[in-house]
Amino acid sequence: MNKANHQPEYAVVVKDLTVQYGNILALQEINLTIAKGDFVGIIGPNGSGKTTLLKSILGLVRPTTGAISVLGMPPREACSQIGYVPQMTNIDRDFPITVGEAVLMGRLVGKAGLFHRYSQDDRIVVQHYLEHLEIAKLVDRQIGQLSGGQLKRVLIARALVSEPQILLLDEPTAGVDAHSSSQIYELLKELNQSITIIIVTHDTMAVSSYLKSIACINQTLYYHGDPNLSSELIMSVYGCPVELIAHGVPHRVLGQHEQGGLRC
Ligand SMILES: Nc1ncnc2c1ncn2[C@@H]1O[C@H](COP(=O)(O)OP(=O)(O)O)[C@@H](O)[C@H]1O
Ligand SMILES: [Mg+2]
Repeated sequence: MNKANHQPEYAVVVKDLTVQYGNILALQEINLTIAKGDFVGIIGPNGSGKTTLLKSILGLVRPTTGAISVLGMPPREACSQIGYVPQMTNIDRDFPITVGEAVLMGRLVGKAGLFHRYSQDDRIVVQHYLEHLEIAKLVDRQIGQLSGGQLKRVLIARALVSEPQILLLDEPTAGVDAHSSSQIYELLKELNQSITIIIVTHDTMAVSSYLKSIACINQTLYYHGDPNLSSELIMSVYGCPVELIAHGVPHRVLGQHEQGGLRC
């Protein structure tokens, strides 16, 4: 087969990736291949390098050693094809901007932002995603006035309006109530019919019900594959057991975690 004539079949290929911040080793020798159309969950404890991995895929963090290819290109060249929903902690809630403006700004990806005039097309796409995420009625609200769940939807809409092929989400359901959280997962499941999704989550309830694969990292990659985890694997990544709901059937597949243990 002449590969040169074909679209790359992988969304992301991470090869021997090591990332250091000064003398802090965040990621070590990560090898990870994510197929197009995957819905992969990245799990691991706090400080295990999950955000660093997403930022590396986005080209925001440079590998210390190793390389990343996104849709067959270096991350920087592929950035217009990637939608990114950052972790909540990075968002300035006091920034004076409305929901409509925040989402519209997502159309600037890969364009000369300062001089860009929004077109009719931009506005039509924005309206479509505002409605799709059920936030159209919030369009004139300041982002600082939104609930956690509403703000997450705004950030997802902003990431989607550039119509990316790959969506990266960093803990999009952290601090969101159970109902909004499952709505977000349902939406992602639907989006996954046409785009590849990579999501960082502590939300192990979602693991078996929605994800097609998981990648467990704690500086190094422990596992990438089927989302039905063994308790041994969870133990080795997190250092303590986690309660899982497998295939949407509520049953405890892992042991109770000890009082005062590590946060899972
Ligand atoms: N900009 C930075 N400068 C220095 N150290 C950082 C920076 N970003 C992350 N780190 C460190 O790298 C490690 C991995 O962080 P991070 O990727 O944010 O983990 P996670 O998202 O899994 O919580 C942590 O030890 C963190 O303190
Ligand atoms: Mg993080």
